[in-house]
Parts: sequence; structure tokens; C-alpha cells
Amino acid sequence: MNRCGIFDSGIGGISVAKEILKANLFDEIIYYGDTARVPYGNKNESTIIRYSLEALEFLKNFDINFLVVACNTASAVAIEELRREASFPVLGVIEAGVEALKNEDKNSNILLVGTKRTIKSDKYQKLLKKRGFKNITSIATPLFVPLVEEGLLEGEITDKIFEMYFKNIDKEKIDIIILGCTHYPFLSKTFKKHFPNARLIHSGQAIVEMIKTTYNLPIKRESSIKLFSSDAPEEFKINAKKLIELKK
Ligand code: DGL
Repeated sequence: MNRCGIFDSGIGGISVAKEILKANLFDEIIYYGDTARVPYGNKNESTIIRYSLEALEFLKNFDINFLVVACNTASAVAIEELRREASFPVLGVIEAGVEALKNEDKNSNILLVGTKRTIKSDKYQKLLKKRGFKNITSIATPLFVPLVEEGLLEGEITDKIFEMYFKNIDKEKIDIIILGCTHYPFLSKTFKKHFPNARLIHSGQAIVEMIKTTYNLPIKRESSIKLFSSDAPEEFKINAKKLIELKK
């Protein structure tokens, strides 16, 4: 049995789990959303590391043989600690997201959005610069996380928050937006409305590409998912299932 553990602070990592599920790379996916402690993005590094290691401990109970950190914040600050504690591959979404840009023009205007901790960690920015990208604007957009947790994926309130965060950005000029938080792909429609010319980089699709190219896993006939959360599990399951079924 080939089992992949996936975790996030909440429901955002479902955007990653859903892509992995669709790709049929594992017999089973065990998803853990730390809904009791969401958001991670404005917490201290040491707290995020502790929460991430606890998520790993929980997932180890299911005999997983692969871990996907479906949280950019945890990928930014806790990936080394997780790798030290796991005896199986641990993949983070940041390396995968940057790898997804390998064929892009190095002069592209890139907008990076993520939680405060992800933006502050400078992980994306450093990896992008190493690959030769020069025009990078990064903005922390933490209010997008509760919008998604509340299911406010589009509409007046969502538009207002977009306008507030991006009021100083020349939107027409943005070529690529890195959705540096796994909650954000669920806001894709609103991103496309505000940035008509931009290509959106999605952690979930990027990680599927990375798993395929690095591990050469045989495609399964079918793949299933089990959902767990640290608080309100019934509500979490209902919301997660809705998002798994949501068409982009
Ligand atoms: N979905 C997460 C991320 O990718 C965490 C958001 C949060 O809990 O602040 O960063």
C-alpha cells in the first residue's frame, strides 16, 4: 500500500490534495488540517515547527510512506526539521512552485503572494533570484486565508480585500502570480478577474509535476482520500469535500 500523508493549517491544502488525488499517484491519501490552530502564517517560526512536527506524528499513525507539506508557511520554516524526523520522502510546495517556472522568461514580472511568515522567510525570493528572475514583487496577503476558510471565494468583500492589497500594483503588467499559499488557488477566479494577463502558479499542480519527475511512481487505477482535522471534523469534511468537487 502506497500511502501519502498531506497536511496544512486548515482547508487550503485541499487544493494540493485534490491535484494529487486526480493524478492517481497513491493508493490512499491521509489529509490532516490543523483547524484548531489555523492560521499558521502569522505565528512564530518555533510555533510553526512544533505544529508541523505534531502533524507528522499524527500522520505516522497511518503508515504513510510519503509526506507532502501542503502548506507554504510550514514548507518555508519547518521542512528541514520534518525531513530529519521522517524516514520517507518529504516534499514541500515552495521548491515545486519555483520549479514550475523553469521555462518562463527571466524578465517576467512576477507577483508573489503568501502569508506573512512565507513572505518574510524570503525562501521563494531567494530561489527565484538564484534562477535568474529579477522582477519580483512580494506582498503578504493574510486575509485571503480566512476568506477561503469561510468559503468567500468571490464577491464584493473578496473584491474589496483584493483592491486593498493590490492598490499600488500595475495589474496589467503582471505576467505571473505565484499563489504562495495553498488556500489561494480557491480564489483563482478573483485573481483572474483582477489580473487578466497573469498566469497563476498553483502549488498543487507544481507538486504533482515534481512527484512525477522525481519518483517515477506507477499510476494507480484509483486513489482515495481520508480527511482528518484537529477541530470540528464533521464540518471540515463537508467543506473539504465541496472544495474537492469544485471545478476551477
Ligand atoms: N495554507 C497555508 C500556506 O500555504 C497556511 C495559511 C495559514 O495558515 O496562514 O501557507
